[in-house]
Amino acid sequence: MNGTAPGTLSRFEHVPLAVFPTSSEASRAVAREIAALIRARRDANRNAVLGLATGSTPLGLYAELVRMHREEGLSFANVVTFNLDEYYPLPADNPRSYRHFMQAYLFDHVDIAPGNTHVPDGSVATAEVDGHCRAYEDSIRAAGGIDFQVLGIGRTGHIGFNEPGSPRRSKTRIVTLDSLTRRDASGDFGGESNTPRYALTMGVRTILESRRIVLMAWGQHKAEIVRAAVEGPATPQVTASFLQEHEHVQFVVDRAAAGALTRYRTPWLLGALGDQGLEWDPAMMRRAIIWLSQLRGKAVLKLTDDDYNEAGLQDLLRIHGPAYEVNLAGFYQLQHTITGWPGGRDPRRTKPGDAPVRPLRAASAGVFPKRILVLSPHPDDDVIGMGGTLCRLVEHGHEVHVAYQVSGANAVSDEALARALRFVRDAGLAGGPAGERLRSLCSGFEASGSLPETAEVQHWKGLVRRQEALGAARVCGVAPGSMHFLDLPFYRASPGTRRQLADGDRSIMRDLLGALRPHLIFAAGDLDDPHGTHRLCLHALRDALSGLSGEPWVGESELFLYRGAWSEWSADEIDLAVPLSPQEVLRRRRAIFCHETQKDMALFLGDDRREFWQRSEDRSRRLAETYNALGLAEYEAIEAFKRYAPEEFLRDLPL
Ligand code: F6R
Repeated sequence: MNGTAPGTLSRFEHVPLAVFPTSSEASRAVAREIAALIRARRDANRNAVLGLATGSTPLGLYAELVRMHREEGLSFANVVTFNLDEYYPLPADNPRSYRHFMQAYLFDHVDIAPGNTHVPDGSVATAEVDGHCRAYEDSIRAAGGIDFQVLGIGRTGHIGFNEPGSPRRSKTRIVTLDSLTRRDASGDFGGESNTPRYALTMGVRTILESRRIVLMAWGQHKAEIVRAAVEGPATPQVTASFLQEHEHVQFVVDRAAAGALTRYRTPWLLGALGDQGLEWDPAMMRRAIIWLSQLRGKAVLKLTDDDYNEAGLQDLLRIHGPAYEVNLAGFYQLQHTITGWPGGRDPRRTKPGDAPVRPLRAASAGVFPKRILVLSPHPDDDVIGMGGTLCRLVEHGHEVHVAYQVSGANAVSDEALARALRFVRDAGLAGGPAGERLRSLCSGFEASGSLPETAEVQHWKGLVRRQEALGAARVCGVAPGSMHFLDLPFYRASPGTRRQLADGDRSIMRDLLGALRPHLIFAAGDLDDPHGTHRLCLHALRDALSGLSGEPWVGESELFLYRGAWSEWSADEIDLAVPLSPQEVLRRRRAIFCHETQKDMALFLGDDRREFWQRSEDRSRRLAETYNALGLAEYEAIEAFKRYAPEEFLRDLPL
């Protein structure tokens, strides 16, 4: 793996970094390096000492190591492992413990001696924690120190559980988890209140003492923190940045996690673009112009030659200048993203002289009305992310289908379901044996404040969300018969198992797509959700489309990704911008309000305490302000989308 930053790049990137097209390719490369180490040590009759991480990042690595063990005879007989951390307090046999994770994803599938595996013990008594941590350090030393340390990075920049503020010299110890880390982990623990507050973790110093360190990061939600760790100063506020001081460190990232690095976000700062093997294509021009307009606080059409020169954009000016020409090119690109006809214009309502509806591709532009599929991971993402556009598409007379990919049951509190059950009980609607069970659940809840985690309870929670979605659809005018509740099975994984897509999920998606053959697909491209469901839902779409790629309709369809409660497209990523009137914003709010279980004390609000309707409104209003500041018309709110042509579906989805 050669990731050393050459020349100019090293001015920005302070650690060697390798970017792979996908996390699977990256994981395989890391696995090969580990396997080579294990084999070299075996040949020298020595142990290989590995420092291991848990979480979603190393799953592909462990799967590859297990494959190498099974298919290529890679033996772990000479391997000793030390895990970075464990939640505290949490016994090893709890399915959410990191010990359990390691057994499930690696140890149980290879020939490692159980006594050679070490994970901090989350069940030691409080009084013994310090002694346990000291003993952990001693056993690492007794094993000869760590040869190869695998790391992930948390969104706080933590390595292990060294949260912001952890000193460079810290050793294995007990720590209080950062609130963002707890929220990210809450999906595994069924809500924030059940998530442990503490953890035992190797310290920054313990990690830096390893002879080789590889930090892996996948996905757009890691992009900003990767940038801080790689390009920012070494600081306890981002403990991964301390790795800059290590002689043999390597960052291994996929393209999405690398997306915020200067080399991708503002590559012109690295010098003449051609020298970096990049071109001033229209997308790069738009990005640079928007960046400059925001940097100078000026509308695009007001930028001058001096603005371009002083900000390091001489190259752009030289090739496409003067400023007047570059400005116009950028301005028109932006203007052409805006349309009030997200599904194309109704030919009956088109007057001579009307501007073409540019964001749509020629292939589908002529079809009216269209079959449109809106994919919503949870039952509320559709209205949160694109409620205004959804209403428009229905109003324009398209055949609009909405498919909810998962039930959303995990985000319904026991309290919310108990309320519905008590209604059934008190209205006298519960008779027979089912009524008995319902009454006993109600009294159980009244006594303990919680409901059992049974499949039936989960199913009912899903039904509560279904009713909410039906209510919201009514507000948007979507016919109940055009709503599809897919209930993808991956979402129902039992506690402690990582959710993964299986053929069952893919075939449900394939059947739906095959039956509808939509001209346009709208899907959630908001991959910053703390529970990872959106990513899996988008994966399911990609896999299903890839299975159908021979069918002609796939080649003629278009995919638009919307964002929702967690993030917004930046102006340079937007291909379709749908302006909303104040009335449409209110209507969207009414639709979001139908999702009553997701208000106030929703289980997965994430890092942002505002409610979903507030986020939706702030986001779309802020985007309207951004467009206005760039010099475009002043709208109340804008919903934005990024477009993928069919061939791009499968190649470039940001997963
Ligand atoms: C896990 C650990 C953490 C994770 C980090 C990223 O043992 O020490 O530092 O590596 O929180 O977690 P994922 O990979 O789930 O994004």
